[in-house]
Amino acid sequence: MTQPVRILAFAGSLRRDSYNKRLVAIAAHGARAAGAHVDVLDLRDFPMPIFDEDLERDSGMPETARAFKAQLVAHEGLLLACPEYNSSITAALKNAIDWASRAAPGDPPLVAFRGKIAALMSASPGGFGGLRGLVTVRSILGNIGVLVLPDQVVVAKAHEAFEADGRLKDSRQHASVEHLGAELVSVVARLTGKPGGPPAATSAPGGASRKGPAR
Ligand SMILES: Cc1cc2nc3c(=O)[nH]c(=O)nc-3n(C[C@H](O)[C@H](O)[C@H](O)COP(=O)(O)O)c2cc1C
Repeated sequence: MTQPVRILAFAGSLRRDSYNKRLVAIAAHGARAAGAHVDVLDLRDFPMPIFDEDLERDSGMPETARAFKAQLVAHEGLLLACPEYNSSITAALKNAIDWASRAAPGDPPLVAFRGKIAALMSASPGGFGGLRGLVTVRSILGNIGVLVLPDQVVVAKAHEAFEADGRLKDSRQHASVEHLGAELVSVVARLTGKPGGPPAATSAPGGASRKGPAR
């Protein structure tokens, strides 16, 4: 039997109580409901030194970076929720991308990224919801061969946005995040020929919380 679409979902935050990790859980639920196999990882479980070419030459790729890269290689789709730090990507996420972009002997170039399909989200206590950081994340991923979906979801005022059980208080916004996960599965399924259902909703819900890419 054909294997389902494989989606790797994670946040660009190390913080234990991360709002972006909560978004990942919601979107992962939407992706599973659309028929994907979804693995959720926590960057905190892959502590990596700051990328340094001298360290790489002398010691090779750290085991944690190798394991993170292997996770990327094993999945076709990426569901990412990225905090915005000083209008940009977090150091933790950029560092993980830098390590995973390095080729092991015999690797095709950018094997962890080229041909992958990604959907982006962000949550922030601020009024823009991390939208500016997603511009940077989208640019980086596009430049290393990832096809990033045009649709993305941002959650502003994240400190007020979630219920204690992890759901978003705004049901339309919650549906938007689930829909993004399902939409990713649908696109990956169409591009890979693997099974994956249509998006959970036929029209995009979410109103003001649903924003296209800022260009
Ligand atoms: C160093 C630093 C810089 C930040 N810069 C921004 C920013 O530019 N825009 C923003 O909306 N929030 C900014 N924040 C606030 C984060 O959005 C907030 O800490 C958020 O909770 C991080 O996401 P997380 O909950 O998933 O860890 C910054 C936080 C830190 C620690």
